[in-house]
Amino acid sequence: MSHPSGTTAARGDEYLQRAYALAGSSEAQSLQQLKGYASPRRCVETVINNISSTQMSSDKLKILDAGCGTGLVGDCLAQSSLAGKFVLDGVDLSDGMLAVARKKGMCRELETANLNERIEKPDGTYAVVVCVGTLTKGHVGPKVLVEFARLTVKSGLVVVRVHDDVWESGGFKAEIERLRDVGTVEIVSTAEFGIIEETSAGGRMVVLRKI
Ligand SMILES: C[S@@+](CC[C@H](N)C(=O)[O-])C[C@H]1O[C@@H](n2cnc3c(N)ncnc32)[C@H](O)[C@@H]1O
Repeated sequence: MSHPSGTTAARGDEYLQRAYALAGSSEAQSLQQLKGYASPRRCVETVINNISSTQMSSDKLKILDAGCGTGLVGDCLAQSSLAGKFVLDGVDLSDGMLAVARKKGMCRELETANLNERIEKPDGTYAVVVCVGTLTKGHVGPKVLVEFARLTVKSGLVVVRVHDDVWESGGFKAEIERLRDVGTVEIVSTAEFGIIEETSAGGRMVVLRKI
């Protein structure tokens, strides 16, 4: 679906189209110049608002950024109240994106992975799995939520941003409800939120707690 130019959705689309068209790390760096992209910051705020005191009182919070791109979630984490209290790993399909993220030195592990396939990490590795800007327009299907839940420790969080274009038609809403119905997760929230600063629409910020 395309959106009228100048609208919030069109600005979100501009970011996504540029992200998916990346050919190398210099382009990935220039992507960061696109101002007003709010999803990583809002995702980190959502994690902070939903993390339990039990999780915070244990060792450093182990976080996986799935579809990490150039590492904008890591940047936001480092500027948040979680600074110094987390260990961050990232996976992404694009070596160009990963190269930029690697230069920042923010992540413990950065690996190439296709989110439409099994992610080669043990069950329950992470306290939190986040995914921002990647669940959109059919690039990654809703079955990835099963993998995110598998990788998350009991009582841990899955925090994913799902673009409006695929929320229902792409099967994400149905898959989240199925995971709840089979007792894999509790749905904490699926609030609408703004992908671009100063807006409140464009996607869902989904918060799931692993049962
Ligand atoms: C719009 S960018 C978002 C990057 C970052 N999370 C952010 O918010 O800035 C989408 C990312 O999803 C990655 N991606 C797309 N399809 C993927 C797949 N099948 N498996 C893993 N990563 C994928 C792209 O390489 C790109 O880095």
